[in-house]
Amino acid sequence: MTPDRPGAPTIPAPRVPGRYAVALVCLGNICRSPMADVVLSRQVEEAGLAAQVRVASSGTADWHVGKPMDPRAAAALRAQGYDPSTHRARHFDAGWLEEHDLVLVMDEQNLADVGGRSERVQLFRDHDPVGTGGVVPDPYYGGDEGFEEVLTMVERTSAAVVAAVLDSTEQSATERA
Ligand code: 4NP
Repeated sequence: MTPDRPGAPTIPAPRVPGRYAVALVCLGNICRSPMADVVLSRQVEEAGLAAQVRVASSGTADWHVGKPMDPRAAAALRAQGYDPSTHRARHFDAGWLEEHDLVLVMDEQNLADVGGRSERVQLFRDHDPVGTGGVVPDPYYGGDEGFEEVLTMVERTSAAVVAAVLDSTEQSATERA
């Protein structure tokens, strides 16, 4: 099993060896989890893992299904060179727990809404190298700086997630060989 950093939970082994599916979940799927989706997807691609690692996001509420990202989230991403344009909000349902190896949620309410913590359901910021176990605060009702803060958290935490997923995916592929 992955020797994760102290304080970070273990990344569960993939259901299918050599492949890994990560779901990012927040409330509306227009701010936090889509930002994490775009950032983690790019980091996965840069790590050369696009063929093995799948990233998706959804919201526990269905209010915004089919809509693009909140313009403030999109602007924060664009300012750092990311492309937010392809996102369309999706609604989380129980099937997501079966279809993904790891479900990373943004806060305690999300955790409760998806049915609670488990080996495969963790807080995204459990993997934050700057102090684990926090939440990604909801920037929806605040100003632009909240979105920049979310992006900073998401970038550093995604790097740790990619490293742990790589470890877990490679290990499962090695065990299979
Ligand atoms: P998210 O933020 O969960 O990070 O996408 C929110 C988006 C929409 C609402 C609340 C939070 N809303 O109340 O519509």
